[in-house]
Amino acid sequence: MSILDKIQDLFNRKILRKDKDRWNYQYNLGRWESLGDIKELGRFSVIVGYTQFLKPNGKVLEMGAGEGYLQQRFDKTMYSLYYSTDVSDVAIANGKKHEDAKTKYLVADMNTYVPDTDFDCIIINEAIYYGHSVERVLDRFAPYLTKDGIFIVSINGDERNAAWHQMMDECSYPRIDQTIVKCARNTFYITVLGSKA
Ligand SMILES: C[S@@+](CC[C@H](N)C(=O)[O-])C[C@H]1O[C@@H](n2cnc3c(N)ncnc32)[C@H](O)[C@@H]1O
Repeated sequence: MSILDKIQDLFNRKILRKDKDRWNYQYNLGRWESLGDIKELGRFSVIVGYTQFLKPNGKVLEMGAGEGYLQQRFDKTMYSLYYSTDVSDVAIANGKKHEDAKTKYLVADMNTYVPDTDFDCIIINEAIYYGHSVERVLDRFAPYLTKDGIFIVSINGDERNAAWHQMMDECSYPRIDQTIVKCARNTFYITVLGSKA
């Protein structure tokens, strides 16, 4: 990166507070590589288990996927399409080596992204905090769920997330199941929601 690019990057992060630049900066530093280690395996395994059990051979969209560690925990024979998407182009570039005919890594902002197909399962794993509210994120993506499609949302137990847990408890989408996973770094509340009638 040239000195001019570095100044622009600093300005975008610190003055304009552009989310994409802040995340890119952190991914360039390797700050999120730990998400790929064994201490996160518990929550990823529950999400993979729900998806493969409820929507075998389904089409999957993941929002806020980072470098794609969740997709990389899947048995690829168990889905027919997987879009791993994130606002950070650095994170997406790091995950791209895992692409194949049915696995795509795409730069997308969950607040503006318009999918080009529908999905049996839409996953928001530790990323719903960057949407406007639980209900608004789900409402944005509900039109892209197939009939009987599901959402899977993970919200961690950090006390700063109390409002997000409350929004999840009060949300108008029918709850199918919830699993609470206590991992080494945090506790994760993984909720499966159905489509509204
Ligand atoms: C805590 S990380 C979680 C990454 C991954 N889902 C995981 O659990 O390992 C949050 C992710 O949300 C992404 N993000 C932040 N704002 C976003 C937005 N508006 N749209 C899509 N992704 C966003 C960040 O780039 C980051 O990769």
